[in-house]
Amino acid sequence: MAKALQRSAAEFLPEKLDYRSLVAAASGCEGCDLYKNATQTVFGEGDINSHVMFVGEVPGDEEDLRGHPFVGPAGRLMENALAEVGIDRIKIYLTNSVKHFKWKPRGKRRIHEKPSAREILACDPWLRSELKLVEPQILVALGATAAQSLFGKDFRVTQMRGKWIDSPLAEKAIATIHPSAILRTPDDLREQAYRDFVADLATVSAAMAG
Ligand code: URA
Ligand code: SF4
Repeated sequence: MAKALQRSAAEFLPEKLDYRSLVAAASGCEGCDLYKNATQTVFGEGDINSHVMFVGEVPGDEEDLRGHPFVGPAGRLMENALAEVGIDRIKIYLTNSVKHFKWKPRGKRRIHEKPSAREILACDPWLRSELKLVEPQILVALGATAAQSLFGKDFRVTQMRGKWIDSPLAEKAIATIHPSAILRTPDDLREQAYRDFVADLATVSAAMAG
């Protein structure tokens, strides 16, 4: 009962679940309050026919301004890591669990804030539509937010990362850390965190080749 009364993206879904309709409909989404302080909806992008889908958390400052996912510092780090294992980012589909930037002011800067469980749930209809559209054979969750929305709230990325897991959502599903977490890792540990991330992506790359 309470659930039915909760706002979500569901009421903004288009009739036709093709990519263009989804992007157009999501641009007007008011399924939670995050649209109010964000510049625009940042929908998933990439090759919808690749059957490979990567899911992050939420767009950041640059993504919000430019309207594209993973084009800021975390995105650049990921692009480099993907290139190391031979994955071209335009050949996969990249999206986020939540489609609007969440932030708080600090001086003149906009500081990333973690979306709440309620916001993640509100935005979930977009993610489910993208799953239907892409029908991933390989599904990659980047960080705990994505992993928990895809694989359940008890999922622990630190324990399960880099291993294929059973999921009804894709033949092959896997989680790794979020590239932003690497950027936040202390200097002396960052290189190792990056190498571990690349190793997880190499597992994905091998599955794409196989
Ligand atoms: N972090 C994310 O999870 N997604 C983006 O698009 C950028 C940073
Ligand atoms: Fe809609 Fe998601 Fe944006 Fe909330 S974050 S307004 S549910 S697109």
